[in-house]
Parts: sequence; C-alpha cells; structure tokens
Amino acid sequence: MTSDSNFSGTAQPAHLRDYLTTAAGSSSIRWIRAAALGMWEVGDGGRLLDVGAGNGEVARELAGLLPGTEVTALDHSAEAIANASGLHDGSRVKYEVGNAYELPYPDGHFDGVRSERVLQHLADPDRAVAEMARVLRPGGRICLIDTDWDSLQFDGTPEGFHERGVALRREWLAQTRTVDIPPSGRTLRRRLVTAGLTGVRTEPVTMVFTDLTEARQIMPFSREMFAAIGMPDSAAGWLGDLETADADGTFLVALTMWIAVGTR
Ligand SMILES: C[S@@+](CC[C@H](N)C(=O)[O-])C[C@H]1O[C@@H](n2cnc3c(N)ncnc32)[C@H](O)[C@@H]1O
Repeated sequence: MTSDSNFSGTAQPAHLRDYLTTAAGSSSIRWIRAAALGMWEVGDGGRLLDVGAGNGEVARELAGLLPGTEVTALDHSAEAIANASGLHDGSRVKYEVGNAYELPYPDGHFDGVRSERVLQHLADPDRAVAEMARVLRPGGRICLIDTDWDSLQFDGTPEGFHERGVALRREWLAQTRTVDIPPSGRTLRRRLVTAGLTGVRTEPVTMVFTDLTEARQIMPFSREMFAAIGMPDSAAGWLGDLETADADGTFLVALTMWIAVGTR
C-alpha cells in the first residue's frame, strides 16, 4: 500500500476485480453510468480518458457508443490494466498504466476525462482533479462519480445498528487503510470549482435496495467480502442482523452516489 492511495502501484486484489465486475452488472451502477454519460455531454470524434478505469468496461462501452472516439483506460494498477486488456473487445480502447497524480499526457490532450469511484481512495483528490483538468483541452468536459459512504441508511435492523456500523467502519479504517475513506461524493462539485472548471453541475443519485443479494453487488455485506477486506470479527453480528432483516422481508438500505460535471 502506498501512502497516497488505498491501492498499491501494481496489485489488483482478486476480490476488487470480482467486486468491480459484479458492480458493473448491477442495474444501479448502470443507471448511474447512464445518467453520468448524459450529463458529461461528450460528442463523437475526439479523445476520452477514464482515470482509475479498473476493469475497463466503461471505456469499452464508450468506444462502442462513440466509434469515432479513441478512449484511454488508465489505472495505477498494472494488474488491473492487464486484466482490462484481457477483456478487450476490439473497440478503440487503449489500456495504460499511470498515476492520477501525474497523468502521462500533455496539457489539453483530451476532449473529455472521467473518473469513477477513485477519488475516495486518494489522499490528495484535489491534486488528481487538477491533473485531470490539465490534460483536458479548453472547452473539454470532465465527469466525476463518487460514493458518499456517510449517506448509508438502513431499516429493518435493531436499534443501535447504525451506530454499531459506524464504530465498525472506524475500526476497519484504522486497521486496514492508509487513507481514510471520506464522504467523497458531496465534495466533487467543490473540487471541480477549485480546479477552475466552469458551469459545474452536480446530481446525487440514491440507490435503494430491499434485497440483500442485490445490495451485495455494490456494498461489501457478505462474510467472504468482509474477510477479503479485513473487517474485524466483531462485524459478524452486525452482518447477522442484516441477514435477519433480509430473511423476514424488512431489509432496506440506501446509498447515495454523486455525479459532477464541468467544462475547462
Ligand atoms: C473502486 S475502483 C473503481 C474502478 C472503476 N473506475 C469502476 O468504477 O469500476 C478504484 C480504481 O482506482 C485505481 N486507482 C487507485 N489509485 C489510483 C491512482 N493514484 N491513479 C490511478 N488509478 C488509481 C485502482 O487501481 C482501482 O482500479
């Protein structure tokens, strides 16, 4: 683990790859990505960059939708990029290893830059946003998506469940992370304004799940995922309460993600 990100330079843990694959299949993530694409307003024919592209499925989707456009999927993790290029479908996507803090492109190189669920993992998100703005041409469009984990709300669970969850999360962050995971989503607008983007627009998208299996496509609410991400053993009881609510049909969880766009 580096000190400036929750991910090491080259590794992509199997649980992260599998999580991203499952999340990409979730109707909620598809809905957010479609809304973000509508707000981004990029046309066909230029160059687009996806920073922290993970498995690269959005880059391939964009290249399919905009056949005259060259799309670059960039990630800090060499393993993620190897995996993403292994999934290549022949569309106009380039897969490149690179750091959001020092994007390996000249000023004004891209017509559009996007980054999804990446800033929450960075110690200095503003530095990454400034880099994204730098590589954008004047008039180019940026689109950020991020989660607001502090927005998590539950129902069907016992009294004190929320507070126990907050304490568990704090314990987990202290034990496993070099970078705290902040409520990043709501900060996106401010970061774009600070980086000098104009016409900044932001929208919250709240996902609601009443089925634990569906919620697990996006949130790590399973014993396997808890083990993979190093949750404390004391989390098992908390998870048990979720499973009970699911079994009796009263389970509900809501989580808000934010989309923000702006023009250089
Ligand atoms: C939660 S994943 C999101 C992946 C993808 N954007 C998606 O929505 O499916 C975060 C990604 O950011 C990448 N990442 C983390 N720090 C980075 C950095 N400093 N520069 C570039 N990518 C980074 C990780 O390797 C990982 O693939």
